[in-house]
Amino acid sequence: MKGIILAGGTGSRLYPITRVVSKQLLPVYDKPMIYFPLTTLMLSGIRDIQIITTKEHQQAFQTLLGNGHQWGINISWCVQNEPNGIAEAFVLSENFIGDDHCALALGDNILFGNGLTRLLQTYKQPRSGATVFAYRVKDPENYGVISFDEKGLGTEVEEKPDKPKTNYALIGLYYYDNQVVKIARDVKPGLNNEKHITDINKKYLELGQLHVEQLGRGYAWLDAGTVDSLHNASAFVRSVESRQGIKIACPEEIAWRMGYITSQNLAELADNLMASGYGNYLWEILNETKENK
Ligand code: DAU
Repeated sequence: MKGIILAGGTGSRLYPITRVVSKQLLPVYDKPMIYFPLTTLMLSGIRDIQIITTKEHQQAFQTLLGNGHQWGINISWCVQNEPNGIAEAFVLSENFIGDDHCALALGDNILFGNGLTRLLQTYKQPRSGATVFAYRVKDPENYGVISFDEKGLGTEVEEKPDKPKTNYALIGLYYYDNQVVKIARDVKPGLNNEKHITDINKKYLELGQLHVEQLGRGYAWLDAGTVDSLHNASAFVRSVESRQGIKIACPEEIAWRMGYITSQNLAELADNLMASGYGNYLWEILNETKENK
């Protein structure tokens, strides 16, 4: 299973903040936004990850994340020259995907909840068809909207409809089998000359292979693409982290807990992060585990 993070786009809904900085590098409380989709893929057991950015911002992402080896993963890099749509990710990543299955995480989506790791782990084993996630929202008209039957098969999918048929939005995390490459190639550009992800999902629906996993009220799904949603996401992360004393979407911790890096590796990473308190946290989880042994 390969993973892709789509972190391009203009971020124009956040202007002027994103005139110089990429949206997906902005802080969500104590971490860059891209840590969230990255750790979602890591928790799913995916270790080969391609990150798609604009040409302009690629260097900054590379400075932040490198080749991923510090966290026991392999990161490769790809440029999207124009924001030609989410579905273009699979065309750009054709060589990277090869014959494998593939998960796509949108760079501005934040997912958190009890049992999420267990759920995501079940996707380590590739399945045929597509799996998408439905989340109840108050404003479905702002998202891809999904209807599905009691067996969890999609029956209709629409992108930002004026009159949504359900309250279920599709979150920015998609698991596809290898058919996705050909399907994406065949998608015709639509509104704004973009290849829409919804057209890929419509194709899987036609094939009777669009599996829908409903995420219940115990999960938080936030998309941080506007000034208010970015602020809300930061406030959410802050309140959970300060109440519980644990971090959400900490790649160093997840790499260590998943067994991708050793305790010695974690200690070294922690030592380089002492000035902000982030390093202290990494030392704390290391020591806590030693004490509990
Ligand atoms: O957040 C979930 C929603 O994401 C889904 O419910 C929708 O079906 C899906 O179309 C998408 O809607 P958005 O309006 O949020 O898409 P947006 O244009 O904001 O793009 C999402 C991310 O992908 C964002 O981080 C920018 C990046 N992107 C987007 C496009 C169109 C790219 O890197 N390249 C692109 O060409």
